Amino acid sequence: MNKFALPRKIVHWFSAMLFVAVIFVGFNMEDAGSQALTAHLALGLTLLLMTVARLVLGKIYPRPPYPAAIGGFNIRAAKTVQSLMIVLLLLQPLMGLVIYNAPQKAVTETEYKHGGREKIEKQETEYTGEWAETLAEIHAANAWILILLISLHAAGVAKHMIVNRQNLLSRMT
Ligand code: HEM
Ligand code: HEM
Repeated sequence: MNKFALPRKIVHWFSAMLFVAVIFVGFNMEDAGSQALTAHLALGLTLLLMTVARLVLGKIYPRPPYPAAIGGFNIRAAKTVQSLMIVLLLLQPLMGLVIYNAPQKAVTETEYKHGGREKIEKQETEYTGEWAETLAEIHAANAWILILLISLHAAGVAKHMIVNRQNLLSRMT
């Protein structure tokens, strides 16, 4: 089986690890505060760098030819999913940067417990503009779309390996 060049393989698997990490931190940073957000930012920006590297490396080291048995439809489907992933992987950290720098204000949330006998006041922050709130929602939705596309991508590889007995994975290993 023809293989991707080593630099493309390294960037592919490093990006895959970064993706898992940035998603994990992203969904778990609600209570962890600013340190988790800094980790999320660093991982997200490294992933952005890797996605740009992917595009540059794609120009230097062309994609290896597919085995004839794969078929034109499958190749087009695989390439469409890959291109979509790249576009969304470029947009996601850029959106993240805008949200990260959006103005915020301190707010006090009041919570009543034990039938109103206990009053708890919590200091929180809120985005000043509604647009930032919307962009944060789009950032979260885009994360789910990426998870879906990547699952589709990995499922495609698995399907070819199990059903068609074509070891596509070895192109990237
Ligand atoms: C278990 C997870 C994964 C498996 C088994 C896998 C496997 C593969 C294989 C076999 C190829 C070559 C396919 C071809 O020649 O058309 C490929 C390419 C590709 N994969 Fe994955 N992949 C995984 C995760 C990811 C993740 C998490 C991302 C995005 C962060 C990703 C993005 C890409 C892209 C953009 C390509 C096109 C080639 C390139 O530009 O590197 N993959 N993958
Ligand atoms: C490909 C890279 C990235 C992915 C996959 C990603 C994914 C996520 C996810 C899953 C969440 C949680 C959403 C939720 O709680 O519903 C999140 C939140 C957030 N991300 Fe990212 N992120 C990426 C890059 C970045 C970058 C580079 C930054 C900052 C420079 C950033 C800033 C933020 C911020 C500020 C939030 C909190 C938004 C809020 O207030 O709800 N993200 N991200």
